[in-house]
Formats: sequence, C-alpha cells, structure tokens
Amino acid sequence: MGIAIMTSGGDCAGMNPGIKRFVEYSIEKGLKPYLICDGLEGLIDNRIQPATHADVAGIITKGGSVLRSSRSARFFEPEYRQQAYDNLKAHGIDMLVVLGGDGSFRALDVFYREFGIAFCGIPATIDNDIFGTDYCLGVDTALNVIRQATDQIRDTASSSRRAFVIETMGRDCGYLALVSALTSGAEICLIPELPYDLDSLKKRFQAEIADGRTYMIAIVSEGVDFAPQLTRWLEEEVGMEARLTVLGHTQRGGSPTVLDRLRAFEFVTIAIDALVTGSNDGVVFYKNCQMATRSISEVVSGRSEISPVYLEEGRKLTR
Ligand code: F6P
Repeated sequence: MGIAIMTSGGDCAGMNPGIKRFVEYSIEKGLKPYLICDGLEGLIDNRIQPATHADVAGIITKGGSVLRSSRSARFFEPEYRQQAYDNLKAHGIDMLVVLGGDGSFRALDVFYREFGIAFCGIPATIDNDIFGTDYCLGVDTALNVIRQATDQIRDTASSSRRAFVIETMGRDCGYLALVSALTSGAEICLIPELPYDLDSLKKRFQAEIADGRTYMIAIVSEGVDFAPQLTRWLEEEVGMEARLTVLGHTQRGGSPTVLDRLRAFEFVTIAIDALVTGSNDGVVFYKNCQMATRSISEVVSGRSEISPVYLEEGRKLTR
C-alpha cells in the first residue's frame, strides 16, 4: 500500500527528522513510502517519487525541509485537486502524512471528502497556533534561535545605556514572543493576546532609570505590528537610545533541537499507526505529555490559546 509525505506551508525545524522517521517506519510497517516535493504545488505537478533509506540518510541534523514546502492557491481550485488526485492514483498512493499548519490541513480535509485519500496531519509551525495541541513541531528550535539572539543582544545592551527591541514571528499568535520574554528576562513584551499601556510603561521605566537601570530589552510579536514605533517611543518618550532587531526568517532555520527530533519521531509514528488502523482525517495532537489524534473538523473549528499562567506573567511586561 502506498503512503506519501509532504511538508506544507511555512517550513520549520523538525520536518527533516519527521521525513526520516516516515520513510523508516513505513518500510517497517510493510508500506511503500513516497516523497512529495514542494508541498501541495508538487502534488499538483506530480513531483512525487518513491523513497528509500538512502533518500533520508543524514537529514536528521538539517533545518528546514529537504522536500521543500509551498503555500498553494491552486489547490483551492477543483481542477487542480483533480490533477493531484490523478497523480496519487497513478502512483498507487492511498494515504498521506502532511506536516504543516491548519491551512494545509483544511485543504487536505476538502481533498479527503472529495476523493477519499486518507490523511493524517502533523502540526508543524513555529507559531504554535494550532488548536488542540500544546506543541507544534519546530517551536523549540525557533525558541532557541530567539533565546540565543536575545542573550547576545543582552551582552551588547549591558555594555551600553540603550534599549533593544526584538521583533519575533508568530503571525497572530504571541506564543513565541511571550515564552521568549519569560525565558530571557525581557522587561517589555507586547503580544496580540494582551493589551498594553504605554503611559504606565513610561512611568515604570523613568523610575527604574532614575534608580539605576542602564539598559532594557523589549520583545514584540509581529502580530502587534508595533516594533519600529516602540523603538521610537523608547527614544522619544522614555529618553533611552534604542535599536531594533527584526529576527525574521532566522527563526525558521537551524538544526532541530533534541526536543524537535524526538517529537518528530513520536508525531510521525502516531500518524502512521492512525492511518493503518483506519483513521482518515486525523490530526495528531500533544496534550498533557500524551499524543493522540483528533478529527480535522475539531482542529479547524477551535482557536489556540496560550497558557493562562504564561499570560498572567506576561501581563506584567505590558504595563
Ligand atoms: O507561519 C510561520 C511564519 O513563519 C509566520 O510566523 C510568519 O508570519 C510567516 O510564516 C512568514 O511567511 P513567509 O515565509 O511566507 O513570509
């Protein structure tokens, strides 16, 4: 029986260890593994090839995805989904494992309903914004990239009398920024989930500067869309020379951490086990240190939430 894997949407660390586990575990289970290159775009254009152990040798240490990824507008048009289906049929593929975000899962859900190709989604995005799972593949590596950058910025910050603003990714979700702020000792953290109060921040910092504070670090989620403005505000209103660092796509790269390699192994094992035991439209989730699958319709109908404990601490960094 043919089973294929693809990486879809924004790439992240952990995808390559997942691809390696997929090929090895499929073979162990007596399945015939296939690799789909370039995500949904490659599925439409038939960039599909059978996989062997040799294809995945040595990839466990690499960031990104050796299969490449894409965001596909074409897949939302019925004629291209038909083309994708014809390609899978021609290869004898009946099952798909998809590493991606909820946009990709939604597309595959439509595909399953139309053509009956069973799929299992694995949450893989640095944003950690998929409903129902505490953890998405790639998050730990991204957090470590931010931690390293922030620690290094702290070295230069503490050698001057300056404020540093660091903008993190995350789209509409403040998880990366908040966890980074809490684990790097930042003084300000602005995320979409929490309101902020510039007047109160100003009073706090002016008092702290009078009391001997020489530098500060602010972490701002891209979803707030305020990092350049905050940098100017620190100079003009708080009276501290300020610099902005936008970490951008550095957060998507890097060799996967041990945690991401291990989670990739577990996510893929559960996904293949679910497919061979008859699950057709599942998404693997991680909750309370356990992994299982739930249906895609549940996953796409909910909204992810950051732990209230983290939010409560984060609130102190907004005022
Ligand atoms: O979803 C992952 C992510 O890295 C977001 O954090 C970011 O907003 C977006 O992708 C960037 O997308 P692109 O690489 O297409 O510019």
